[in-house]
Amino acid sequence: MLMILRFFKRHVKIGAMFILLSLGCQPKHPLSPILLGVTAENAMVVSARKEASAIGLSVMARGGNAFDAMFATELALAVVYPYAGNLGGGGFMVYRLADGSTGSLDYREMAPSAAHRDMFLDRSGNHDTAKSTVGGLAIGVPGTIKGIFAAQKKFGLLSVEALMNPVIELAEKGYVVTQKQSDRLAQYREIIRQTTGTQTLYTRDINPGDTIKNLALAQTLRRLRDQGQEAFYQGDMAEHMSTYIQAKGGVIQSEDFEHYKVHWRDPVSFQYEDLTITSMGPPSSGGICLGQIMGMLEPYDFDDLDHNNALYIQLLTEAERRAYADRSHFLGDPDFVSIPTEQLLSRAYLEQKMASFDPKRATASEHIAHGPLIGHESDETTHYSIVDPFGNAISVTTTINGAYGSKLFDPELGFFYNNEMDDFSAKPGTPNMFGLIGGTANAIAPGKRMLSSMTPTIVTKQGELWQVLGSPGGSTIITTVLQIILNTHHFNMGMQQAVNQPRMHHQWLPDLIQFESEGFEQKLLDSLEQKGYKTIQKEYQIIGKVDAIMRHSTGILEAGADPRGDDTALGF
Ligand code: GLY
Repeated sequence: MLMILRFFKRHVKIGAMFILLSLGCQPKHPLSPILLGVTAENAMVVSARKEASAIGLSVMARGGNAFDAMFATELALAVVYPYAGNLGGGGFMVYRLADGSTGSLDYREMAPSAAHRDMFLDRSGNHDTAKSTVGGLAIGVPGTIKGIFAAQKKFGLLSVEALMNPVIELAEKGYVVTQKQSDRLAQYREIIRQTTGTQTLYTRDINPGDTIKNLALAQTLRRLRDQGQEAFYQGDMAEHMSTYIQAKGGVIQSEDFEHYKVHWRDPVSFQYEDLTITSMGPPSSGGICLGQIMGMLEPYDFDDLDHNNALYIQLLTEAERRAYADRSHFLGDPDFVSIPTEQLLSRAYLEQKMASFDPKRATASEHIAHGPLIGHESDETTHYSIVDPFGNAISVTTTINGAYGSKLFDPELGFFYNNEMDDFSAKPGTPNMFGLIGGTANAIAPGKRMLSSMTPTIVTKQGELWQVLGSPGGSTIITTVLQIILNTHHFNMGMQQAVNQPRMHHQWLPDLIQFESEGFEQKLLDSLEQKGYKTIQKEYQIIGKVDAIMRHSTGILEAGADPRGDDTALGF
């Protein structure tokens, strides 16, 4: 039966009308979610590794709250998940307290004081990507230790000692390597060896089932337990790190550690139907970009769309394309550039941006904006979500940027340093080797924070906590978080079901819809190609790796632990 689908909910006069094949009048989407994930009544931690989730949960079982659990989970990830867990990186935390108040903590890395705009350009003025991604020069001043100590000091209940002892024990007794970990280490072993210049803990042959003990990291953690975060940012340890990083080609000085600051910032908050979405503001693009995409989608009627069908993907693509074009031009460190957040999120502005969308054909990215674009980001980061028995919720995304960061391992301290400097636009205003154009808002400057895509997010529904979520995945983080919210809100999926669904991504430039390798049929890609979309579906491609919690109306907490990794949910 042919029927006319009214695509716009409110704006028929500006909207196109669609003629679609309808299979009948049955409701398209299930009325209640199926719970496929781990469930719990009181508290839950979902993270990239079971040891980290277990340590976070045990903190809450001992009377600690979500902020205590955050402190322990973050450090445990540094022990068991060196791929992205870290002491040598940074992150963002969004929280919602039991009383409904929200906030966010920015512990993003900072450019060293000796950094300058052209530091990654070669003699011909071209971006030398090796320098911004590998070795000492790629490293931003780490924020993780100051971040987790600040969060725990402000809101935590337990002592730092009580939180750190189990993590120190984990580093000493060791953790068992999974198949996925062993595969990744094998992939990066040689570059880690070359960058560090010596054999280290992570350059020997490591097989699934092996136990890795990180005694150097245990010793570093013992010092932080006994002397506090100052031990990282002042004195011997800061001296050692700056000397070591400089010996490896970097420019970080011990004063850069001393001057590192975390910021408590107002999160970005916006409405989408009956949901209130609270996410990270600049220097992450996550909250604003997610708000723009959802603001562009809100006028459309999802009841008439099938999940992941061509029209649905078209709609997401067009909204994503437009939001990422703005992201590239306007966003950077708010302490250095002025960001018109209200205007970027205004419904009138977003409606006008979507006015050029023609459902019969793809909009070309070159017609959306000719403005500058920020640099690319890599895929490796990690996210964890926590709900505690007191009703507090926190959403944390933390990163050393690339897999094993700069590949520079510090054998004395037991961790990898980040390569976050690559998140800056190394060459503003000029296409880089991928044809991308860098934006001045995200140009390198001393003490500046590089633009991020990390999107730790908390969703409330009619005033009640509904979801805590986030993902790794560089520029795909934002669209991954978007798809989880849409899967649950419009398609009534439970959290695990929503996380399991195949995902797509578009980011303006390159003008391509990326699809995960599993779950999208060739005929779907063909139908999009016929409308002028370029598509890409690489083998073994995954998009994002979500660790999330949903609080169902019964009060039950349901986890979404992404099967794309070793991610694990634990609760009680
Ligand atoms: N390093 C990845 C991001 O911050 O988005």
